Parts: sequence; structure tokens; C-alpha cells
Amino acid sequence: MSETYDVPPRVRAGSRSPIQSLADWRAAWLAARDDPDATWLRETTSRLAWQKAPSRGLEGSFHDIAEAPIRWFSDGELNITESCLDRHLATRGDKIAIPWEGDEPGAGGQLSYRELHQEVCRAAGALRAMGVQKGERVIIYMGMVPEAAIAMLACARLGAVHSVVFGGFSAEALRDRVRDCDASVVITQDQGVRGGRPIPLKATCDEALEGERGVTAVLVFQRTGADVGWVDGRDVWWHDCVPTAEPVTEAVVCAAEDPLFILYTSGSTGRPKGVVHTCGGYLTWASYTHEVVFDLREDDVYACVADVGWITGHTYIVYGPLCNGATTLMFESTPLYPDAGRYWDLVARHRVSIFYTAPTAIRALAAQGDDFVTRYDLSSLRVLGTVGEPINPDAWRWYREVVGAGRCTIVDTWWQTETGGIAITPIAPATPVRPGSATLPNPAIVPVLMDDQGRPIVGPGEGRLCLAQPWPGMARTVWGDHPRYVSTYFSTFPGFYFTGDGCRRDGDGYHWITGRVDDVLNVSGHRMGTAEFEAVLVGVDSIAEAAVVGFPHALKGQGVYAYLVLQPDADITEPEALHAAANAACRQQIGAHARIDLVQLVPGLPKTRSGKVMRRILRKVAEGQPDQLGDVSTLADPSVVASIVAGARSLS
Ligand code: WTA
Repeated sequence: MSETYDVPPRVRAGSRSPIQSLADWRAAWLAARDDPDATWLRETTSRLAWQKAPSRGLEGSFHDIAEAPIRWFSDGELNITESCLDRHLATRGDKIAIPWEGDEPGAGGQLSYRELHQEVCRAAGALRAMGVQKGERVIIYMGMVPEAAIAMLACARLGAVHSVVFGGFSAEALRDRVRDCDASVVITQDQGVRGGRPIPLKATCDEALEGERGVTAVLVFQRTGADVGWVDGRDVWWHDCVPTAEPVTEAVVCAAEDPLFILYTSGSTGRPKGVVHTCGGYLTWASYTHEVVFDLREDDVYACVADVGWITGHTYIVYGPLCNGATTLMFESTPLYPDAGRYWDLVARHRVSIFYTAPTAIRALAAQGDDFVTRYDLSSLRVLGTVGEPINPDAWRWYREVVGAGRCTIVDTWWQTETGGIAITPIAPATPVRPGSATLPNPAIVPVLMDDQGRPIVGPGEGRLCLAQPWPGMARTVWGDHPRYVSTYFSTFPGFYFTGDGCRRDGDGYHWITGRVDDVLNVSGHRMGTAEFEAVLVGVDSIAEAAVVGFPHALKGQGVYAYLVLQPDADITEPEALHAAANAACRQQIGAHARIDLVQLVPGLPKTRSGKVMRRILRKVAEGQPDQLGDVSTLADPSVVASIVAGARSLS
């Protein structure tokens, strides 16, 4: 019997959630599975402010997805900012929408729903004056300031499609994204600030846009006042044009299936894909999951400390909470600045009741000792969430016992950029929890575990996690490349969406995500493709071939392990010098978060006779299990394996 924790009384008290027990969950889940149209038409019309209410539910299926993307609510019309802003004005105009905590403790400000609405209408007016029209793409390259959320909503107000690029990405990565979606406007800021250090957002943006004729305007929010480069005729200060802009009081009406945003994410192969989410289904899913999973209440102070550059920031800082009329905190700093008590100081001062972070932060903070937590009054907390990677039971217990003092429940939420919102998770007031388990699927999510032969596993077992039915918040396509969407997600197991994750299901139907089973790395919750690293590495002088795999890392979840084959005439032969050169290249071409932890020089990569690298062998060696390599007899040159095993690196 697994260690199980019932929902504490404090979490249940005062809940008005329609899902209060496992029996309620089961009834809701079965209803959504068996009658998705009725379930989601009801949810969407009660949650969103539609200009024209939809009469159609789901259209399309995973079997004919190559011909036609999935559609939800396709005859409905709306502008999603009316759901997030306008309709709250009558009842919540003075309610705080966004409390903002800047990099320095206590620095910041706040915006009420009325103020946020005004800012968004004006920012939309400024964008319109710059020529932004419905359907056009706008890149947002900013830090964690409220203006980032305002920029996203301002795009949506015009029916323009935003693509937020995480502020840690390099100029080259930014340029790739600008080009891929053919953006005409970029919104950035002079500098970001994190942990007392400036981040040169405008300078990086300038570098990315050098020679890019397609971008006609750059809107620059002033955060620090630092001197920045300026391109006359292209660059415009936010404070010069937004306050005086003609407000867009009439939001542009969109079809339910018009794109809302593109978010680039890493996969097994090739360059990052622009995952497309559409207006009606995405917002319905964001609103539903945010309210139901966390058991949101009117007076909650909700804090998700992710970055708006990732999907978690989109769905659970901006869209879900604002659609639900919640108070959603934005946090500019890091969990360790000025010390490891920062989150708990934040929780105490803002009286946060729902707190949502990543396992990597929990592990880092747990390692610093309990004093940083217990010195603060955390009695406001009720629900603690985690997302982004599997959470190890020790970190989970620390979160529950030390941060939550045993009074809060933990929601370990499994989902992906592609799922748009939380898919497998406990529901705060209803689901007894187990450390390390994401537990049960949300209504609309029908998980199936596939065995090695591609057969669904019935009952307990471990396999590859697929989802069998469309849900409203799923990504509809890859920007400009529907065939890539189909081949990435629907070709491994035809008729099913394949997540790329492994999963175990126990005798009670609880799900335990085991991590990626494809060539995607998850380092501190940052999703990166091994192929992206390899593409950079083979461009470094002295490196002829490269293969990158993940290995278990106590703090980061996964570390990055690179096997490098030198050019015959290489002038660098010291692994340390090569390691530094490799990291410099990754930083320049991907971003500051793309770092290789371990480098091993090898005489050759283990390849089959047809030239395919046998990554399984490289993974096992990196994981410290050289005795479990399996059959290596099909290798073109089995002798390379011995030298790879002999030269294996480790962190200890
Ligand atoms: C992993 C982040 C275990 C998983 C929202 C998934 C998790 C990938 C969990 C998506 C969790 C996310 N337990 N693993 N609770 N949440 N993952 O697109 O491997 O940045 O496929 O979306 O993160 O990462 P992405």
C-alpha cells in the first residue's frame, strides 16, 4: 500500500467546488468522456463571454487529423480579453488583478481589473497605431513585469497572434522565432532584472533583428532606464506611445478557432516547433483547469512563480486566472534572491493562499534547510502545486510538511505545452495524494499506456503515455507545418496523441510519470531537445560528431551529457577547454539555460551498420549503468563501446 495522504480539513473547509470527492471526480470524468459536446459546451458558455455562443462542440478526430485539425466550438465568436477583463469590470473592477513583486523584496506595485483593462486597451491602441492587424504575429521578449501580460492581452484584443520568447533565449534563438512566424512587431524592454543582475533584453533583441526587414516596429518598455541602442523609425518607447494611445474599447471579434498564440517548444528532432493554441478551446480549458484543480475561491491570492516565457506562465499566470477573475501575482525575481527565504517572504507578505512552482526550485530550497521557511508566517497557504518534471518523494514530503505544515494539499500537475493546461493531477479538495504521483486524469483527458508492441495496457502497468480523446485546450497544429504536427504526435500510435512521456499506473489507477522516453531533455523544468544541442556542437571547431543525452541529476532532475568525437586535426584536445567552448556556443545559439554538465571525448559514436547512433547505449553509460547495455552485436564497430564505458564521466 503506497503512502497516501487524505485531503486535510483546511483544504476542504469552505470549498464550493463541484468536485469534492473521488466519486464526484469519477462522475465528472465519465460524463466528459462519454458526452464531450454537452460537457464542454456547458462549461464554455458558463465560463467565457462569447459574442456569439457556439452551438458546436468537438469536430474532427485523431484518426483523420492529417486532413483536418481538431476544432471546438467552431461556430462561436469572441474576443478572449472580454472574458479576462471587460466582463469583470461590473463586479470586480476594484479587485486586484495583478500584484507585482519586483526583483528587490517588497518592490513592485499592483493593478486592479479596471486599471489592467485600461492598460490593455491603450497598449492595443498603440499596437494598432503601429499597424498591427488581426492575424499578424507579434513577438514578446520580456521579463516578468506586468507589461508582459499587458502586451499579450493587447495582442489578443486586436486578434493578433503573440509568441512570447523566454528572456533567457539568445539572439539567434530569438531571430529563428521571429523568422519562423514571420513577425512584424517585437515588444521588449530595455533590460530585465533577476537576482540583482540586469538582463540585456533590448541589446539581444537588436542583435537578433539586425538585417531582419520583416520587423517594422519594436515597442520598448523601460524597466531600468539603462542606456540602450536605438533604431530611429523602428523603435518606440512604451511610455511615449501607450499612455496617449487611442484605447481599443471595442475588441476585435475572433472565431473560436482563430489562433491566440504560438509558443515554441523543443521536440525530439529538428528545431523548436511553434505550437499553436486557439482562442475558444484554450481559454475554456485554462479557466476550467485553473478553477477546478486549485479549487479557486473569490478571495484567494494566487501565485504561480513560473515565467511568462513558458506555457505555465501563459495558462496559469495570465489566461486561466484572469478569465476566472482571480488575483494573480507576478514575480520578477528568483527563489534564491536575496536568500533562500524569498518565496516564503513573498507568501507571507502577500498572504498567498495558492502557490505553484517547480520541483527543481523545491529541491534547491529544501537543500538550504528549514529555517528559511519556518521563520515566515505561511498560515495563508492552502494549496501547493508543482509542475514541470517528476517530483521525487523526498522533495514532495518537504513541500507538504515544511512549507505546508501538513495543512495544505499538494497538486502534482502533469501537462505539456501541447496540452495547453493541466491534464493529470489531483483535484485539491477531492483527491487523496501520494508523493510522486500526478494521480488521476482531469475530465476530458483519457490516458492510455502503450506497451512496446503498441498495445494498450489494461489495469496496472508501465508504458508510453498517450491520450485517446481530444480535449478543448489541445494544441491544434504546428505553425506553418501541419504535417510535422501530425508526424510528431500522431504517427507513433495512430489514432492516439503520444505525449513523449513514460508512465506507470498503479492498482488504484493513479499515474506516476517516469519522464521523457524520447530525445527531449528536462533540465530544471526547462524543456530542450538533444538534437538542438547536437546541431550547435557539430558547429564548434575541433568537434566532428556529437551525441547528447540526459542523466539523473540530484538538483536539476536531469543533467546534460555530451559525447564528442574530435576532428582528426583538432587543435583543442583538453576536455575542459572543449567543454568551455561547447558551452559558449550553446549559450550563444540557444540561451543561458542551455549548459552541458559533462563532456566525454570518445573515439567514435556507437552506430549500427546503417549509421544510426544507438542512443540507448549512450544513455545507459551516462546514467551510470554500463552493465545494462543490452545487445550491442548489431553495432558496426562494437569495440567503441569498451572505450566509451572506460571513459565515462560522473559528477561525483
Ligand atoms: C514534464 C510544462 C512529471 C513531462 C507544463 C512533460 C512532468 C514535459 C510534470 C512538458 C509532472 C511536466 N510530473 N513530469 N507533474 N509536468 N512534466 O512543455 O516530461 O515545458 O512532457 O510543459 O514536462 O514540458 P513543457
